[in-house]
Amino acid sequence: MYTDKVKDHFKNPRNQGEIEGADGVGDVGNPVCGDMMRITIKVKDGKLEDVRFKTFGCAAAIATSSMITELAKGKTIEEGAQIARKDVANALDGLPPIKMHCSNLAADGLHAAIFDYLGKNEAARKAHQALYDDLKARVTKAKKEEAEGHDHESECHT
Ligand code: FES
Repeated sequence: MYTDKVKDHFKNPRNQGEIEGADGVGDVGNPVCGDMMRITIKVKDGKLEDVRFKTFGCAAAIATSSMITELAKGKTIEEGAQIARKDVANALDGLPPIKMHCSNLAADGLHAAIFDYLGKNEAARKAHQALYDDLKARVTKAKKEEAEGHDHESECHT
């Protein structure tokens, strides 16, 4: 059911944990199953110097969290914000269709962390106002989906 890459990242997760004194924190929840993920970032010179995750979720959620930390580390905040939900699943050579919703958490968590960083850092926000506005719209949409989705039947943990 899972690709070798998913199994590898699930068994040996990269960058697990939480950055102390993080510059940005992204807390997101899966609207389908209620699982949770926290992404923390450290930003230096506009780049994602460190990215870590803490995830309460299934194998796909752990693997996608681990993968997004690898995809994002060393990238600029603009590049990190461009990592889409599907990019994470593609980097893992795909996920079973029933698990695609699990992979949404990782990109949403990273975007929320970058949004949080820009919200707290006035100088960076002024320099990236368009990015901040774009992320604000995306984070608000994801939160709305999360709130609405909690009514759904869970199809997870398979
Ligand atoms: Fe909850 Fe995958 S994230 S089952």
